[in-house]
Amino acid sequence: MSVTVRVPAKVNVQLAVGAARPDGFHDLANVFLAVSLHDEVTATPADELRITCSGPDAAQVPLDRTNLAARAAELLAARYGLEPRVHLHIAKDIPVAGGMAGGSADGAAALLACDALWGTGASRAELLEICAELGSDVPFSLVGGAALGTGRGEVLTPLPTGGTFHWVFAMADGGLSTPAVFREFDRLAAGTDVPVPEASEALLAALAAGDGAALAGALVNDLQPAALSLRPQLAATLDAGLGAGALAALVSGSGPTTAFLAADPESAEKIAASLLASGTCRTARTATSPAPGATVL
Ligand code: C5P
Repeated sequence: MSVTVRVPAKVNVQLAVGAARPDGFHDLANVFLAVSLHDEVTATPADELRITCSGPDAAQVPLDRTNLAARAAELLAARYGLEPRVHLHIAKDIPVAGGMAGGSADGAAALLACDALWGTGASRAELLEICAELGSDVPFSLVGGAALGTGRGEVLTPLPTGGTFHWVFAMADGGLSTPAVFREFDRLAAGTDVPVPEASEALLAALAAGDGAALAGALVNDLQPAALSLRPQLAATLDAGLGAGALAALVSGSGPTTAFLAADPESAEKIAASLLASGTCRTARTATSPAPGATVL
């Protein structure tokens, strides 16, 4: 018997970052939108905890206990006095270290899969608590849809969305380390007054209305200057997508994946083709949002 869970990637349509806190984290106003790029995690009973991974980027995925899927199984097992005797297979389609919460997605998916396999009967609130312990973005991977994340991003308020948004994602060669991007944010912000992060009313209204053009005008990522500082080549990718007719372009989360909002599916295909032809990215994919959170198949 095995259990498979499908889990979406995310893009941050607003990532407002406050000053560094004493614990090293940053307070955020983080508007998450789940997008239709997915990983699948299959949990099968085994003699001991084992992780395997397939997909084009599989070689970059750690298969040891640092993988959030392994940590999710261990945390759930410890809470219920079980041994994490499970083989977790990750079928990976979300870019690795790409700023799309791929690792967080695998953590949430593994948690849900092990929970179903072991029949723990954990409540949704308990699962969300374990997700928050795994990482700031993990609760959103469980919930999906659209949500405002406050605190370090783990305190979620679901948000209404009025329609489908069309995206193109350009994947870069190599990943960016999220802690390194936050450190660069701190370096660039040194000596300045960093405002308290707040969700943008215009952005929430655009999401609720399903208005792509209005959303395009409201997209903002405070980590973008830091990501561009560490990876200046991303500017050419952003320009290529805008030149191909994207309504707006931004770095996804801590990057280096870049995200392009398109007016409709046809425009998204055209932007993806132009990005590929531009030679400024490794690959380009279209996707839609919102997408449901982690789901048992
Ligand atoms: O929560 P998570 O483990 O995903 O965070 C990874 C790293 O990103 C943290 O160690 C921290 O350096 C940075 N981070 C932050 N502020 C947040 C979320 C993450 O500084 N709100």
